[in-house]
Amino acid sequence: MSDAAKLTSSPAWTALLAHYEATKDVQMKDQFASDPERFNKFNMEFEDMLFDFSKNRINEETMKLLYGLAKQSDVSGLAKKMFAGEKINATEGRAVLHIALRNQSNTPIIVDGKDVMPEVNTVLQRIKGFTDKVRSGEWKGQTGKSITDIVNIGIGGSDLGPVMCCEALKPYSKRDLNMHFCSNIDGTHITEILKSVNPETTLFLVASKTFTTQETMTNAGSAKAWVLKAFNGDESSVAKHFAALSTNADGVTKFGIDTENMFGFWDWVGGRYSIWSAIGTPIALSIGFDNWMEMHAGAHAMDQHFLNTPAEKNLPLTLGMIGIWYDNFYDAETCAILPYDQYMHRFAAYFQQGDMESNGKYINRDGEKVDYQTGPIIWGEPGTNGQHAFYQLIHQGTKLIPCDFLAPCQTQNDVLKEIGGPTNHHPILMSNYFAQTEALAFGKDEATVRAELTGTMSEEALNKLVPHKIFEGNRPTNSFLFKKLTPRMLGTLIAMYEMKIFTQGAVWNINSFDQWGVELGKQLAKAIYPELTSSDEVITHDSSTNGLIKYFKKNE
Ligand code: F6P
Repeated sequence: MSDAAKLTSSPAWTALLAHYEATKDVQMKDQFASDPERFNKFNMEFEDMLFDFSKNRINEETMKLLYGLAKQSDVSGLAKKMFAGEKINATEGRAVLHIALRNQSNTPIIVDGKDVMPEVNTVLQRIKGFTDKVRSGEWKGQTGKSITDIVNIGIGGSDLGPVMCCEALKPYSKRDLNMHFCSNIDGTHITEILKSVNPETTLFLVASKTFTTQETMTNAGSAKAWVLKAFNGDESSVAKHFAALSTNADGVTKFGIDTENMFGFWDWVGGRYSIWSAIGTPIALSIGFDNWMEMHAGAHAMDQHFLNTPAEKNLPLTLGMIGIWYDNFYDAETCAILPYDQYMHRFAAYFQQGDMESNGKYINRDGEKVDYQTGPIIWGEPGTNGQHAFYQLIHQGTKLIPCDFLAPCQTQNDVLKEIGGPTNHHPILMSNYFAQTEALAFGKDEATVRAELTGTMSEEALNKLVPHKIFEGNRPTNSFLFKKLTPRMLGTLIAMYEMKIFTQGAVWNINSFDQWGVELGKQLAKAIYPELTSSDEVITHDSSTNGLIKYFKKNE
C-alpha cells in the first residue's frame, strides 16, 4: 500500500468514514431541538473573540473522531518542529518561521545553529526608524518635500497582505499618507497610480522576496524611469524615492537601490506568510510601527495558544478539523470566508493565496499522489454585498458550501453619532449576519411556506410556487464574533487562519510551504514573450496556443 493511501485506510479516517455514513442525514434543526446545551458545547472563546461552531453537521462523537485524526496525524508534533526551527519545508530545504517574526516573547529560535531573533529584532528596529521618519515628515524627497504618497510595488504575498491589512486597519491609519498598491503587470495599473501622484512627494517600496518576479521588476523599472525623468535623470533621486523590501541584497543593489534603504528578511519566511517581515513595512507606514507590533502581539498570542493547547480546546486546530470533515467526508470543494465588515473587504482574497497556494497540492510529503481531496477553493466577499450576489446558491444551490461568518461587535463608524442620520447602520448589518447563519442552518419547511402563502393566491398557483420557496437548511457555518477590529484582533485572526491551514496540511501530509505549481506558467510565459515581439509566425506550440497567438498578433 502506498503512503498516500495509508491515510484513507488509517483507523482514524475509517472511523470518520463510518461515522459520516451513520450521521450524514442528521438535521441540525433536530440536534438543536433535542439539545439546549448545543451552543455551550460547541463554542470557544479566545481573548475578545467568540468562535461558535455549533451550526455544523457535527455531534460530540464527530469532534472526538476529528481530534483523533489530528492526533493520529501528529499535528502538534509538526507544530513543535515548526516552532523549533526545523526545516519542515523539505522541498525547499527551509525552516518555516513567520512565527519568529512575531515572537514577542523573544525566546531563542535556532536555525542552522544560530538564534534568528537578534536579526529579526534588528530589522524591526530599522523599519521603526524608517517608518517613523517618513510618517513624521522628516524623510525628504529630492526637492526637500515630505512624503505624501507611498506606492508599494509587489505581487502575491508581497501585495495581498499589505493591501488587506491597510484596508482593514484604515481607522488607525495616517490619513494624509496615501497608500497605493501596484501589482499587475498590466501597464494600466502603474499608469493609473502614476497619474495620481507627484514624484516630489512619492516614495516607492519595491517589495519582492526574490527581487526577480517579472511583474514587480517590470513595474519597478517603469517607476524608476518615471522618477528619473521627473528629476532630469539625476540618479541621486533614487535613494530618496525608493526603498526595497527583499531577501536579495544583490538584486536590490543591481536595481540601483542603496542597501541603506533595504529592509531584509530570510528564506524561512514564505511569501504568503510575510506580512510580519519587512514586507509589512507599508502597514507600519500606514498605521504606525506600534500598531503593526500590536498585530504581531495578537498573532503571537494565537501562536502560543495553537502550540500549547490540547486539541479539544485548540481553536485553529478545531477550525481546521471541521474543514477536513466537509472537504474529505462531505466532498465539499469550496469554503467561503464572509466578513461582515467593509474594512475586511480583501480578507478572503488574502486567504485565497494563504490557503490555496499552501494546500493546493496533490503530491504528499513522501512524493506520492494523494487519494483524497486537499485544499479547498477559498472565496468570499463582505456581507451584506455577497447576500445580493451569490448567497442564493449557498442557500438553495446543489452544492454544500461551508461558510465562515466574521463580524465585529463594535463598529468603527457609528453613523448615527457622526451624521445624526435617521438609521443605525451597525445593528442592521449585524441583524443580517445573525440571520444568514440561522437561515442556512434551519431553513424554511414546506408547512411554513404554505401557511405564508395561503390566501394570497389560487391553490394551483400556490402548489407551483411552494417548492421554490422551501429552504432545506442544514447548511454549515462557523461564526466568529469579535469585540472590535483592532490591530491586535486582525493579527489574531490572521494567525488563526494560518494555523488552520497548517493543521489541514499536516493531516493531508502535504508540504504547505512550497509553491511549485506556480512555476510552469511563469516558464512558458518567458518563452512566449519573444515570440510576441518578433514578426515570425509562431508554430512552436499546440494548434490552440499557436492559433490564439496568431489572432493576437494580427489584431494587436
Ligand atoms: O508566484 C508565486 C509567488 O512566488 C508567491 O509565492 C509570492 O508571494 C509571489 O510570487 C511574489 O514573490 P516575490 O515576493 O518573490 O516577488
